[in-house]
Amino acid sequence: MIYARIAGTGSYLPGQPVTNADLVARGIDTSDEWVVGRTGIHARHLAEAGVSASDLAYEAALRAIDAAAVQADEIDLIIVATSTPDYIFPSTAALLQSKLGVRNNGAAFDVQAVCSGFVYALSIAEKFIRSGSHRKALVVGSEIFSRILDWSDRGTCVLFGDGAGAVVLEAADEPGLLASALHADGSYNPILCVPGGVAGGAVTGDPFLRMDGQAVFKFAVRVLGEVAGEVLDEAGLTSEDVDWLIPHQANVRIIQATAKRLGLPMERVITTVGEHGNTSAASIPLALDKAVRDGRVQRGHRLVLEGVGGGFTWGAVLLAF
Ligand code: UT7
Repeated sequence: MIYARIAGTGSYLPGQPVTNADLVARGIDTSDEWVVGRTGIHARHLAEAGVSASDLAYEAALRAIDAAAVQADEIDLIIVATSTPDYIFPSTAALLQSKLGVRNNGAAFDVQAVCSGFVYALSIAEKFIRSGSHRKALVVGSEIFSRILDWSDRGTCVLFGDGAGAVVLEAADEPGLLASALHADGSYNPILCVPGGVAGGAVTGDPFLRMDGQAVFKFAVRVLGEVAGEVLDEAGLTSEDVDWLIPHQANVRIIQATAKRLGLPMERVITTVGEHGNTSAASIPLALDKAVRDGRVQRGHRLVLEGVGGGFTWGAVLLAF
């Protein structure tokens, strides 16, 4: 039996933190009190002009490859979860492969499932590895949401940030990933979307992130509770058996409500949203890497990673680290 386990993690945040006070100084009609009180966000990182999602992915990937003690040319599958790719094509994953100096070594492609993208990508990579077709996968979430924010919309622009997180997932004799569940319901697309495109050399529609915050909040709390329960049921486990919940980092109130539904104390939940805001597909691997490097997550611990985002998409992965 071939299993898939995480061999190493890495992450990267561009530049210096931009605090809520910095946003006020830049003319945004908000306050530290409002943003912290409603979301738990203290700061975010914003990539400079000219820096792209593949650049952030590259930095996170180097750290994950180093932590996994593998060589870049051993990687035979690269999946980048992103909603803010460098280009329409080629994929950010193909650009990342090139930046890593690797040529013609397996498959590289992007996954577009917004804030659930990393959970989707990890689950896809596991299936490739368990089939025996691939041995070592680089799974990355990388986003530059600052480029799709309407900075005159205070209801959204204070919430998001840029960053990347990565893992190396490799074939192993022991699990590894224990269970996963992926869902989508496209009928919810209007409550969180960037309803624009490019045609004939011009932007068509609206190229900025639009969100009905309260509808998203309610939906997120419901499905994050459900999908965590689903992967635990699949593995015949309960929340008592989980060492760490690592949820999508959008809003500390969503995270607290989800933990409460699962009966998990906040001491067993990794929360990094305060430091980097909502980095969409990057948020789960960013939080995972932070908790691995500060020693909270250790080998053998059982983790539930779970995300929800535009589409709507949602999903969870239960794994033994
Ligand atoms: O990856 C998933 C992505 N999205 C999310 O997870 C977001 C989910 N939703 C949320 O986190 C919350 O709904 C928000 C944080 C976005 C908003 O919190 P809320 O408690 O739902 O606030 P609200 O939208 O109902 O707005 C309340 C008030 C309004 O003022 P009035 O009409 O009551 O006078 C807004 O104009 O807060 C005002 N407001 C702000 N005030 C200061 C909205 N944005 C801001 C702001 N600063 N940045």
